[in-house]
Amino acid sequence: MDKPNRIAIMGAMPEEIEPLIAKLDNVTANLYANNTYYEGTYQGQDVVVAYSKIGKVFATLTATILIEKFGCDMLLFSGVAGAISDDLKIGDLVIADGLCQHDLDITAFGHPFGYVPEGEVCIPTDVNLRNIAKEVAKAKELSLKEGIIATGDQFVADPDRKTWIGETFQADALEMEGASVAVVCHALNIPFFILRAISDSADMDASFNFDVFLESSAQISADFILSMVEAIAEAS
Ligand code: ADE
Repeated sequence: MDKPNRIAIMGAMPEEIEPLIAKLDNVTANLYANNTYYEGTYQGQDVVVAYSKIGKVFATLTATILIEKFGCDMLLFSGVAGAISDDLKIGDLVIADGLCQHDLDITAFGHPFGYVPEGEVCIPTDVNLRNIAKEVAKAKELSLKEGIIATGDQFVADPDRKTWIGETFQADALEMEGASVAVVCHALNIPFFILRAISDSADMDASFNFDVFLESSAQISADFILSMVEAIAEAS
């Protein structure tokens, strides 16, 4: 793997990046396009950290700016997700091997859910970064699930919708930004990695559990991402 020059670390909400910023050195906050981009270093590695705000449109904007304006040549996403797989419990870590958009629907024209012409239903993440994540998990004796993450502009709090997303995309978890980051990084040829810690199970209790577990799950994800940054800097 080529040594990254600057690593973008992205979340969707303030709670998802605050534990990261707290651990950086030489932090400067830069305002751009109605958002704040925190430049700094972690263990000597240059990083730029930002939260996008919730949803696919803001995530697309932020990922693009991190790459095109701030010169990041690798992107790591840290945050929380709703579980689809029964194997995933609150606080568990899941990495995406691929991401799809569960709310993208031109099936009226005979296409599968999640597909538009010249696009792909599922965009794979960087295999080297996934392998580094597995090594980090092994060293820390943490269990890490790998699977498809489905993204959409919906907070899912409905067992029927959750089951449909799971069955249609073989997805293990769902959230609201990952596939946008995938589209941007894929188009710009930037290696990327999406990590989520489970905050809820996308069912009737989802909004309650999300509020209770957002901070603790975001912290679990952020801690792991910082270990990844260290491992990436060492590996390359
Ligand atoms: N992120 C965390 N939990 C979620 C849910 N239930 N739906 C969408 N995004 C989420």
